[in-house]
Amino acid sequence: MTITVTPLSDVLGAAVTDIDLSRELASDTISKIKEAWHEYTVLVFPNQSINDEQQEKFCRHFGELELVRTTNVANDHPHVMMITNVTDTGKPTALEDGEMMFHYDQCYYERPCLGATLYSIEVPDEGGNTLFANCTKAYEALPQKWKNRISSLKALNYYNYGSSPTTRPENIDTKTPQWVHPVVRIHPETGQKALYVSRLMSMRIQDVSTEESDEILYYLFDHMEQSQFVYEHIWSVGELLMWDNRCSVHARTYFAPEKRRMMRRVTVRDPVPVI
Ligand code: SIN
Repeated sequence: MTITVTPLSDVLGAAVTDIDLSRELASDTISKIKEAWHEYTVLVFPNQSINDEQQEKFCRHFGELELVRTTNVANDHPHVMMITNVTDTGKPTALEDGEMMFHYDQCYYERPCLGATLYSIEVPDEGGNTLFANCTKAYEALPQKWKNRISSLKALNYYNYGSSPTTRPENIDTKTPQWVHPVVRIHPETGQKALYVSRLMSMRIQDVSTEESDEILYYLFDHMEQSQFVYEHIWSVGELLMWDNRCSVHARTYFAPEKRRMMRRVTVRDPVPVI
């Protein structure tokens, strides 16, 4: 099987075609996918028809699967999370609707996942798009004085599941998952530096005043979310999308609550810590 890789934008993202993810994949096909993933950060496989097991099996080519820790899951599929606003599935789901600000998945844990996949089962006819920002390009485009300023800084990353995904919480609850990571991380496989903060989850730069922390964070959020670093994915049913969670943040655009949206997510564990 020879896959075809077609770039989706100048920022990041490529479509991978001439592949059927429900079938056994040869090791050289997996190598080509990994190569493309490192180059494009986000890969989209259109026109797929895969079930839970097939999505899990595909993800296992990239590492061990991460358990879902933040919401109820089906006992037989502890790695599968249904992200949906649909309430009549009869299955445990992570109920999510509307907009969500830019974030790295699981950056509030010591070991955030290496990457994640979303498979589109139902999509609204308008909105509910997923935005991806290329944090390597955003880092590289920073003025040198900003690179110097943030080179050894660390930030507290935090997520309060009960709060709105469109606002940052005012107060930090010590019982809520949180972890301090470098503001600039090094991708363990490409060696490239990437900005490692996000508007939804990075709360505080360590060891500086609150004013300075806010100045730095808001400068970086505004910088990395500029359109020249962002690709917007408009979903069709039956797409499997995988993103590299070590060098890209993602966000979701608004969609009307009465429109159905259902995504199946499986994430891959990172064997190495963030450095
Ligand atoms: C996520 O943050 O994992 C979900 C993104 C989306 O629903 O588009």
